[in-house]
Amino acid sequence: MRAQDLASEVPHDTLIKYGVYDGDRLPPSFHAGRRALLLDSMASHSVAVLFATPEKTRSNDITYEYHQDPDFYYLTGCWEPGSALVLSKDGIALANGQTVHEMLFVRDRNPAAETWTGYRLGPQGALSALHVASAYSIDSLPDLLTRILPNTQILYYNPHYGKPRELIRDTLLLSDTEARAIVHNNFPNLSILTTLHQLLARFRAVKTPEELRLMRKAISISNEAHNAVIRDARPGWYEYQIQAEAEDIFTKNGAEYTAYPCIVGSGPNSTILHYETNRRKTESGDFIEMDMGAEYHGYSADVTRSFPINGTFTPEQRKIYEIVLAAQDSGIKACVTGAPFRAAHFAAVKVITDGLLKLGIIYDSADYRRYFMHGTSHYLGLDVHDAGLYGPLEPGNVLTVEPGIYIPAGSPCDPKWWNIGCRIEDDILVTAHGPENLSSNSPRTIAALERLLSESRLQLHTKK
Ligand code: GLY
Ligand code: MN
Repeated sequence: MRAQDLASEVPHDTLIKYGVYDGDRLPPSFHAGRRALLLDSMASHSVAVLFATPEKTRSNDITYEYHQDPDFYYLTGCWEPGSALVLSKDGIALANGQTVHEMLFVRDRNPAAETWTGYRLGPQGALSALHVASAYSIDSLPDLLTRILPNTQILYYNPHYGKPRELIRDTLLLSDTEARAIVHNNFPNLSILTTLHQLLARFRAVKTPEELRLMRKAISISNEAHNAVIRDARPGWYEYQIQAEAEDIFTKNGAEYTAYPCIVGSGPNSTILHYETNRRKTESGDFIEMDMGAEYHGYSADVTRSFPINGTFTPEQRKIYEIVLAAQDSGIKACVTGAPFRAAHFAAVKVITDGLLKLGIIYDSADYRRYFMHGTSHYLGLDVHDAGLYGPLEPGNVLTVEPGIYIPAGSPCDPKWWNIGCRIEDDILVTAHGPENLSSNSPRTIAALERLLSESRLQLHTKK
């Protein structure tokens, strides 16, 4: 039996180590539907070429943990490096007389390599596992492009991995230097549009029920992690212990990745927006700002909670928290169908500005930016900062609402406010009936937070 023939005999759930082919995966019909949408929106005589994320060397012979390109995954369900997708608006004639509009290129099966790094789909496996119309060895991509590009007027691609010419030379044609030269020299007039990601953003911004199911799972795992940490963390814990507890819960619940490096800032570090060092030892009196989200089967959660490590808000922490919470409430309410994308931001800015003025932390409303220096919302999905058009909100959009106030030591205000950094972040689904908070299972109000903080301390006390 040739190696190629083995693929259909390999159970799908052993094919790829990240679990994207398990029973909870997006069905192949989902990806087929996405390809059809993209093909519909492409111009005549155009071809789209997308690539899997290349493997990247970390050092010596170790690669960074692999993660697929979200656009490529969205269209294929394929998690393998060394893969490419070609979509042709006009269709590509095959040797057997058939015409296809989609061709997936994957690495060939290779028993020697698979002994080290696990099964590959191979073209046969790609057909049976991913239900694409046609699948080929990645080695045949240069020939295919050489054949179809002379009759192509527009080439869509994603500029992630380099400029157009570099892309054609370095990625499109992989290592085949002869073929690189052919494309470089022979198709100088081909219009190359770098708008593929934009075309997809229209679709990616509106989540289907299949996507929402996975997003709810990623978010519920993240809520569980936040709740455990709020219950368990004590003064004297290192920031990385908070991270470790959260990541343990992510992994035990089947999340393959964190959606982004966990941000666990205590005391002075709570005022650093994307603090990822996580090495400080916490102290009683510290305020903790923790922004931690799981990625489950490709889909990200993005949740932030802030709380006092010793279980009791100081008067200053309480006042800042109340403003951020009111800003978030106001922002969430603004997430309605038809509202401008930035409506939540403007609503949050108003509450924070008024609150900072009232506390005497600022005296001029324009100065709110000193303490709230980021946007309030981004789309969420396959990427944590997901693709989308940032136009009026539509049902199916999922966006974060994450206002914050950050007051580093040395700020021009009473020092009693220093070293408080507070962000509250939830993941909001826009529906025809108003906003739905998908991450509401972690406490947001001070009363709910205090309940969780005090319950756990009570239990600990009882156990002793
Ligand atoms: N949680 C990371 C961010 O939203 O930027
Ligand atoms: Mn966020």
